[in-house]
Amino acid sequence: MIQTVEALRESCMQCRKCGLAETRHNVVFGVGNPEAKIMFIGEGPGENEDLQGEPFVGRGGQLLDKMLAAVDLDRKTNVYIANIVKCRPPKNRDPLPEEQEACIGWLRNQVALIRPKIIVCLGRIAGQRIIKPDLKITREHGRFTERNGTLLMATLHPAALLRNPAQKPDAFQDFLTLREKIDELQLDVAKDYNA
Ligand code: URA
Repeated sequence: MIQTVEALRESCMQCRKCGLAETRHNVVFGVGNPEAKIMFIGEGPGENEDLQGEPFVGRGGQLLDKMLAAVDLDRKTNVYIANIVKCRPPKNRDPLPEEQEACIGWLRNQVALIRPKIIVCLGRIAGQRIIKPDLKITREHGRFTERNGTLLMATLHPAALLRNPAQKPDAFQDFLTLREKIDELQLDVAKDYNA
């Protein structure tokens, strides 16, 4: 295990553990406050993320930023955002099990250093990898479960909401549920707390 988020980032930037290293433009390590109490985990970088080196910067990312803002959260100050795989799968296909397996150690190390109180999985791939393999995202989104002192929840993936806007109110409700949990646990998510 690497002991600081910055050292972990530097090491991750050099990663060649799977074939995605051949086609990536950038490793998309993660963004946010490494002291954040809330961590969001997506699936893997798309085209914009690959080009810019930051998670969720395309249209889905703009929607995510809006939903975060609605509950007073913000990617730069009081949450941390990362993905299951750090490099873009070609043509945005689902990451293969062996790619997830090769990459998951980086995420485990990130979680071990950040020690979030709440992890929100964005979409089915992250939910099934982190919460349980048979998670049914349409049925089970918005529910908290607890593991080793961390609360886990899955919500709908922003890209799925762009394809199917009728699901946006469901996702928004999940963010309200998240906010209620933050308030109930009195987690410090002030926007000016230090990294
Ligand atoms: N979709 C994801 O799951 N992650 C990103 O970073 C961008 C799109």
